[in-house]
Amino acid sequence: MIIKSLTILDEHYQDLNNDGEDVIQGLTQTPKSLPPKYFYDDHGSELFEQICELPEYYPTRTETWILSQYADEIAQITGCCELVELGSGSSTKTRLLLDAYRKIADSCRYLPIDVSGGILKTSVFQLQEKYPDFSIHGLLGTYEQALSHLESNYLQSRMLFFLGSSMGNFTPQECDKFLNQIAHTLNAGDYFLLGIDLQKPTEILEAAYNDSQEVTAAFNLNMLSHLNWRFQGNFDLSLFTHQAIYNQADAQIEMYLHCQKSHLVSLDVLNLKVSFQAGESILTEISRKFDLVNLQKQLAAQRLKPLKVWTDPQKWFGLILCQA
Ligand code: AVI
Repeated sequence: MIIKSLTILDEHYQDLNNDGEDVIQGLTQTPKSLPPKYFYDDHGSELFEQICELPEYYPTRTETWILSQYADEIAQITGCCELVELGSGSSTKTRLLLDAYRKIADSCRYLPIDVSGGILKTSVFQLQEKYPDFSIHGLLGTYEQALSHLESNYLQSRMLFFLGSSMGNFTPQECDKFLNQIAHTLNAGDYFLLGIDLQKPTEILEAAYNDSQEVTAAFNLNMLSHLNWRFQGNFDLSLFTHQAIYNQADAQIEMYLHCQKSHLVSLDVLNLKVSFQAGESILTEISRKFDLVNLQKQLAAQRLKPLKVWTDPQKWFGLILCQA
């Protein structure tokens, strides 16, 4: 049952569609950086699920609250359509949407897309049990692979959704490219539902990314274990510490791994040796915080017309429904 309901979009998906060229580039430039996609091996995906439960990490529970209030309204606006989720993870919040669509249609098609095979298989299996009338089919691969697969497999009208403010992890240029790809994948009249984290005071943001239980620290450091495994590396995790700061000028959280002691690291598969100085940092992630007015203009410029915006009472998080 699991195998039948999963499509591997590219047999090389386990390489995250690359040969580590982005790691070489990030670690040989100054200042050093690493792409956030390397957070998400199976252990990293589990740690991210734990982050979503942390008291300081408000985005998940705030977005869940918005969905719990407005999922029915979203389903009423779009009517029955194929539901496609980018970066579905455990699909926990999605259940609120699936419940709402179950009220307006006897059966629906749901396609969760993720790069982490373990979590995708488990959630497809659990959802099939909970929603036996729904047709649920997982797509294992990157966003790019998924969007080109969707473009060539058009079945019925769609709502593509991207929750959790994952778009905040893209640079402004990546974000433009991504929205452009979304607009091309959708047919006129299709919908796009976007969850985004909004600007707010620094203390709240920094607490969310430097949690007291240090789960975010473990998540950040796990990237080095992932690189050790994937590229036969010898990163010593005890020589790095986690820190997240809010860069107010760019309205983004920046997550760093600070090196505590000068040393040399090898990544044998990449034929790479990198020297680290004490005090040097690796930027592992940006998490942009959006302004609702500007973002709606940006969406409209990409021919994704904002129809309705929902937020929580504190305006910490937003859901935007757009129509192509
Ligand atoms: C997946 N993404 C939206 C999370 C965020 O908040 O930017 C990743 C994360 N990094 C640290 N905590 C959570």
